[in-house]
Amino acid sequence: MTLDQLLTELVSLPPSRRDAEVERLLGVATPGGDDAPPGAELIGYHASGLAPVLRALREAPVTSADVFIDLGSGLGKVALLARLISGARVLGIETQRALLDRAPRLEGVEFVHADVRGAPLDEGTVFFLYNPFSGGALREVLERLHAVARQHAIVVCALGIDVEHGTESWLRPRPTDAFWLQLFDSVVPGVPPRVVEPPRFDARLHRLAGEW
Ligand SMILES: C[S@@+](CC[C@H](N)C(=O)[O-])C[C@H]1O[C@@H](n2cnc3c(N)ncnc32)[C@H](O)[C@@H]1O
Repeated sequence: MTLDQLLTELVSLPPSRRDAEVERLLGVATPGGDDAPPGAELIGYHASGLAPVLRALREAPVTSADVFIDLGSGLGKVALLARLISGARVLGIETQRALLDRAPRLEGVEFVHADVRGAPLDEGTVFFLYNPFSGGALREVLERLHAVARQHAIVVCALGIDVEHGTESWLRPRPTDAFWLQLFDSVVPGVPPRVVEPPRFDARLHRLAGEW
């Protein structure tokens, strides 16, 4: 199935049926039971919703020049969508081997079996987190992202998670009307801001991103 066919199929469905259908089409549908936490302060597997993922890709925006990294990629729903829609090089980092092994393979997407706290992040330009960890684990990862942002400007897309904690002064939140999704630009003295040519976003993607 092409991206064009995928989008046509999804817009033909009511919003409440789109996630199940996109997961079936991508090969990441799960019967459940994958949600056990993999460790202290680490959250188990739940798939992101289609609409907020599309909104993050559009608003970042993620382009074919980006390296998009999903921190805690689970079965790969976000990683696969990011690749198909943006053409970016994509890394999915996942600590649970059983999930990683089930993630469908796609050219341009690399799944890395690692704990994000020790995984290579340096190449990333856009990072996505759907509530993968909390507490000290989250602080540790934010410090690692700060180190990346000292090298080049990054965008952090945070879904269902408060990454600010009032202390991350290097992260500038974008204004948003979204309740669950927050985008941040890194702001580090001496590091030039990220400049991208916004890609043309298919009208169907706008619709799918807006209805949730
Ligand atoms: C809420 S799920 C999100 C899955 C996927 N990103 C999505 O949005 O569909 C969080 C995932 O992060 C993984 N995870 C949690 N802590 C991790 C860590 N320290 N390193 C790598 N993966 C981690 C979990 O195993 C789980 O698959």
